[in-house]
Amino acid sequence: MCATPTVATDSFRVAGTEPGPEGVTFEFEGRPIRGRRGESLAAALTAAGERELRRTRTGPSRGLFCGMGVCQECLVEVDGVPGQRACMTKLDRPMQVRRQDVLPAARTIDRSAKHNAHAAALEPDLMVLGGGAGGLNAATLAAKIGAKVLLVDERPMAGGQFYKQRLEASGIAGNLPDDAQFAGGRALIARARQAGVTMMQGVQVWGAFEPLDLMLFDGKQSRLCRPKRLIVATGAYERGLPVPGWTLPGVMTTGAAQTLLRSYGVLAGKRLLVAGNGPLNLQVALELARAGAAVAAVAELAPAPGPGSFTALLQMATSTPDLLFQGRRYVAELARRGIPLLHGHALASVEKTGTGLKARLRRWPGAQDAASVEFDVGAVLMGYGFMPSNEILRALGCLHAFDPACGHLVCQRDAECRTSLEAVYAVGDCAGLGGARAAEAEGVIAGLAAARSLNLSPSAEAIREAETARRALRRHRRFQQGLWRVFQAPRPMAELAGGETLVCRCEELALSDIEPGFAAGSAGIGAVKRATRAGMGRCQGRYCGPMLARLAADRQGVALDEAAYWAPRPPVKPIAIADIIAGD
Ligand SMILES: Cc1cc2nc3c(=O)[nH]c(=O)nc-3n(C[C@H](O)[C@H](O)[C@H](O)COP(=O)(O)OP(=O)(O)OC[C@H]3O[C@@H](n4cnc5c(N)ncnc54)[C@H](O)[C@@H]3O)c2cc1C
Ligand code: FES
Repeated sequence: MCATPTVATDSFRVAGTEPGPEGVTFEFEGRPIRGRRGESLAAALTAAGERELRRTRTGPSRGLFCGMGVCQECLVEVDGVPGQRACMTKLDRPMQVRRQDVLPAARTIDRSAKHNAHAAALEPDLMVLGGGAGGLNAATLAAKIGAKVLLVDERPMAGGQFYKQRLEASGIAGNLPDDAQFAGGRALIARARQAGVTMMQGVQVWGAFEPLDLMLFDGKQSRLCRPKRLIVATGAYERGLPVPGWTLPGVMTTGAAQTLLRSYGVLAGKRLLVAGNGPLNLQVALELARAGAAVAAVAELAPAPGPGSFTALLQMATSTPDLLFQGRRYVAELARRGIPLLHGHALASVEKTGTGLKARLRRWPGAQDAASVEFDVGAVLMGYGFMPSNEILRALGCLHAFDPACGHLVCQRDAECRTSLEAVYAVGDCAGLGGARAAEAEGVIAGLAAARSLNLSPSAEAIREAETARRALRRHRRFQQGLWRVFQAPRPMAELAGGETLVCRCEELALSDIEPGFAAGSAGIGAVKRATRAGMGRCQGRYCGPMLARLAADRQGVALDEAAYWAPRPPVKPIAIADIIAGD
């Protein structure tokens, strides 16, 4: 039996998760809105039907896109301070919130109370950057062995993407069913605390400088951390795909919709279309349907598995059978709920209508006019796999190589997850996409290795834990290989964009604007950047960069390698110059 829909009628909240007496009333463009204390501003605004957040230089509005602090499309002004990411800003008081204009007023440097003290540099034995599956495991084991561990994460709650947690508020827990992901994350966080890990949430690392200087910003103060060892576990972000209309408010990544729902009990829309490539889309479509949303369809780039998928499925079944069966259950439940799973389809375009969005799918691969199908929906979710968040690793100088099978840079590591730099380890998706279970195993392996390198002696139990992790890692890597063979599809780059579709979202550049840069810039995408400003926006080229690197390499007839990508530059996450100077 499928669950009965439970959407609140007057908002986008799952029924029963509306703010109670503990709620906060804030103003958005003068409109009073009631939200839950502790939820993100993005969640409170989405729940109230407010989708248009920042305005671009040429006028159109943008809204929540990545939902994880990467794209910078959700910028708002909070109590007069511009440049605040609604998806990362906690609603904790009655704020005055306004849409962010393209050129916010300059801020004066605040040298008063919060800024005037020089904070001493932090000097832990081990800094773990990222509190997801990989980082939590690494921090816990190293702390259990005796290291002084500082774990830093920019999200308000630990858990990362796979283990993202629910807002700890009455109502949410009772109305959003608990599941293994929530419970697993709770257990990992509790273990880290028990082991004595110092956890700093809501703190972002905005710069990394050789030999091992990390710059932290907690929303008030910028400060230096100079650890003896560093484990980077910064995860991944979702690939976007430029198609006409992909910058419209209401079009967002699948993961953004998942965070709204799982952490805050908010639906991205009451009727939605999900499109992309990979299993996360199936999972999120079901989570939304179970929570009461109408999912019009799930479009999957890959063809339906057939006899040719047998060896890949066998590889999955013999390595991690429970995950294979979980996938089968997703497909069966989608069918039971009457949600079409359209294999061999790609999102072709989205346009705004009087009531919402019209999304068009087309056969993929195929000719431009390959048969298409249209849906009227309130939100479109796109998830075309992931890209490693490797800026910190690259900024420090850790060697990377391009992996043609995965289509992204992979950090070069030894069997202990040590990078080309003696004091730096990399675990989880930031080093190369491997999924949550591989991230957990790598965390354990790196936690042990980092502790040993600090001359600490692990217990027999810690050594056994790492041995178990090594065996698990081999299995999970085999599973991932099989999984992505099942979801293998020709990956569109700019083919669905057309000349006028924005490719660089931040600088509002279409492919036709960038083409002259290629013509002038035979030296690669660095020259394209200088000639066109592509990649110079606030997302730091995270969305357009991989695509332009591929196009530039193709034009030059060379293979992709690390040098083909833009060099990472500080700040890797935007920080106001006023905050950098004030922390000086
Ligand atoms: C949006 C999204 C949703 C996903 N949902 C699922 C899912 O439901 N199921 C699934 O199997 N896989 C999911 N994945 C894949 C997932 O990334 C991995 O399987 C797993 O979470 C990897 O663990 P990790 O430790 O490598 O990274 P993560 O769990 O992503 O943890 C990385 C952490 O690093 C922090 N961080 C990153 N950069 C900085 C910085 N500069 N300063 C401070 N902190 C920083 C982040 O806040 C985050 O908490 C999702 C991925 C994304 C991007
Ligand atoms: S939606 Fe907030 S930064 Fe991307």
